[in-house]
Amino acid sequence: MPHNLFSLFSQPLKPPLFEPGEPRFWDDPHISKSMLEAHLNQTHDGASRRNAEIEKTIRHLITSGFLKTGDQVLDLGCGPGLYSSKLCFEGMKVTGIDLSRRSIDYARAQAERDGQNIDYIYTDFFNIDYKETFDAVLQVYGEICTFSDEKRDLLLNLVHRALKDNGIFIFDVSTRELRMREGLKNRWYFSEGGFWRPGKHLVLEEGFDYPENDTWLNQYIIVDEDGTVKVYRLWLHDYSFETISQTLENNGFRVEKAWNNLSGELYQKGGDWIAIAAKKV
Ligand SMILES: C[S@@+](CC[C@H](N)C(=O)[O-])C[C@H]1O[C@@H](n2cnc3c(N)ncnc32)[C@H](O)[C@@H]1O
Repeated sequence: MPHNLFSLFSQPLKPPLFEPGEPRFWDDPHISKSMLEAHLNQTHDGASRRNAEIEKTIRHLITSGFLKTGDQVLDLGCGPGLYSSKLCFEGMKVTGIDLSRRSIDYARAQAERDGQNIDYIYTDFFNIDYKETFDAVLQVYGEICTFSDEKRDLLLNLVHRALKDNGIFIFDVSTRELRMREGLKNRWYFSEGGFWRPGKHLVLEEGFDYPENDTWLNQYIIVDEDGTVKVYRLWLHDYSFETISQTLENNGFRVEKAWNNLSGELYQKGGDWIAIAAKKV
């Protein structure tokens, strides 16, 4: 979706809620390479949490009884398989789904190297059509926050259908507290090559707050050397314990347990994240 920079700035700057930006982000050839590097980077939590935290999460979900050996587990938005591979090592039968071909290729190569039998599927998770197949569905790192209410409910219906009776949906959501702590960005910079593009480009970054909807937009306008302008939008709908519980209830789930994070820190109001194990009812 190329734009003209002038026309972009001569209209109201605050986009309507959940107006999509550039459709290709996760699967863009260059951005997906940057993303994979970020997933694997052990110095920050930009795209995935670090390995030690992932280990803690798996341990916690097993010791708390939400996951066990022999379970059929669906990892939605599995990225390079950082959770899927550990679940498989713990004796679970894992299906991982992701929209990034680069991440899925990496995950498959790792599984082959380690002799693991994991079903990695390159597709949009809105295309899934499982019926009462899985003991648990996992969706880690706030992916559900990136959707409008309508798309989120669609996803919850697909998850509900994919779970066996009494199956568990394990996921996490960010809170307004995290957003307030991070603050709205408003900056521009020139890059010789980096996350967004391999060559020279300009990045205009702006954050927008929609407090009445608990929603936030991080918008990135990327201008290439040839003048091509593309707008990327990362929408984030935050939740409180009350709003996520109500949403789950409306979609046929009941909260079994909530924590401050997936590695099992006790739930306390005011944290940056809420991790949830919800039962299909
Ligand atoms: C923030 S990353 C988290 C990856 C992984 N869950 C982790 O924590 O290591 C979100 C992942 O979801 C994937 N994703 C986003 N939208 C998707 C969609 N509609 N269908 C499938 N995968 C999607 C992205 O490609 C990316 O790998």
